[in-house]
Amino acid sequence: MSDVFDLDRLRAETPGCATGMHFNHSGASLPSRSTLTAMWDYLRREAHNGPMETANDATALLEEVRADTAALIGAKPSELAFLASGSAAWGAAFSALPPLAAGDRILVGRQEWGGNLATMQDAAARGGACVETIPVREDGSVDAEVLAQMIDGRVRLVSLTWLPANGGLINDAAAVGRVTRAAGVPYFIDAGQALGQIPIDVATLECDVLKAAGRKFLRGPRGTAILYVRQEFLPRLTPRYLDVLSGPIIDGVVKIRHDARRFEACEISPALIFGLGAATRQARTLGIAAIRERIDTLASGLRDNLRSIPNVTLRDLGAELSGIVSFTVEGIPAAGVRAALGERQIAIGANGVPYTPLDMAARGLDQIARASVSYLNTWPEIARLSEAVADIARRA
Ligand SMILES: Cc1ncc(COP(=O)(O)O)c(C=O)c1O
Repeated sequence: MSDVFDLDRLRAETPGCATGMHFNHSGASLPSRSTLTAMWDYLRREAHNGPMETANDATALLEEVRADTAALIGAKPSELAFLASGSAAWGAAFSALPPLAAGDRILVGRQEWGGNLATMQDAAARGGACVETIPVREDGSVDAEVLAQMIDGRVRLVSLTWLPANGGLINDAAAVGRVTRAAGVPYFIDAGQALGQIPIDVATLECDVLKAAGRKFLRGPRGTAILYVRQEFLPRLTPRYLDVLSGPIIDGVVKIRHDARRFEACEISPALIFGLGAATRQARTLGIAAIRERIDTLASGLRDNLRSIPNVTLRDLGAELSGIVSFTVEGIPAAGVRAALGERQIAIGANGVPYTPLDMAARGLDQIARASVSYLNTWPEIARLSEAVADIARRA
């Protein structure tokens, strides 16, 4: 399947591929030249014609980007808002839910992203509510059957981080969706590590809200994120604040938009959105299923290599795995592994507890090294990374 990729061309069109080896696509990936050009071209037009004037001319094109991005996740364009970060998108939706009251419950997956968890725990503490962790199955994934038994009339939200930040696990987000839809409980999905890596279909997931940053596997620019809100769910969310786009005052009356743009700032950066649009088009042209297959093949090869290195422990849980490969090296903190690889021009990530506090605590981990694979990576790069990790582990 990987031969559907003209890898030489794709890499030649990615300036970062000439600089070093990038295995931090789950932190932020490398943009292609077409993404950079889309942004530069727009900024140039802004500089020449005036930012406001350029935006007026760009409205229809921006809506094309919205339609393309919505299509990537099986949504309607009216169900999609652009925001500046994944956390901003998640927080915008969460803070628009009715206030929590004493005795209310929020149920979360064990791999919940730390920022979402902090937002929920803070709101719960103020409202006298509680945040409870859904137990996991033997493979570490969230157990939808146990979730079904936990739900009662006090559950206000189920929140799931689909692909965790700290490893290759893929939760069965659709199974959770079947439970929440049957129970009529709001269901939020953090798809930060899924967008651009695995196929997403919001109808199959049966979620009410889904969000993701654009900079990760999709290879969009930093400062972009998408927020999906299911059309029928929109009236249940009251934005915490409005602006002249999301809630204009007409004839003295506040008219909150009826689409997901009730969460979008009128001051989003069109240049960034056009960059996101170029990345989206590229991903759709390559095909997310083909991207998923190539990432899976490369990540499996990397796991096989790491598994055979003395003093290296693979930390990925789950039956179905993503392109995020987590590991620890005995005697060397994850930040040290990252730094040692950095000296060899190989970029990886290193996570502490705050990204995934519940999961790290449950597993007694305080850090993991994280090598995340894109379709852009090559077998020689996988070999170089594996050799470098073996060398570092040997010197420990
Ligand atoms: C699963 C997940 N959710 C959320 C985030 C944070 O997104 P942002 O930094 O855009 O707020 C990350 C970032 O790594 C993530 O992995």
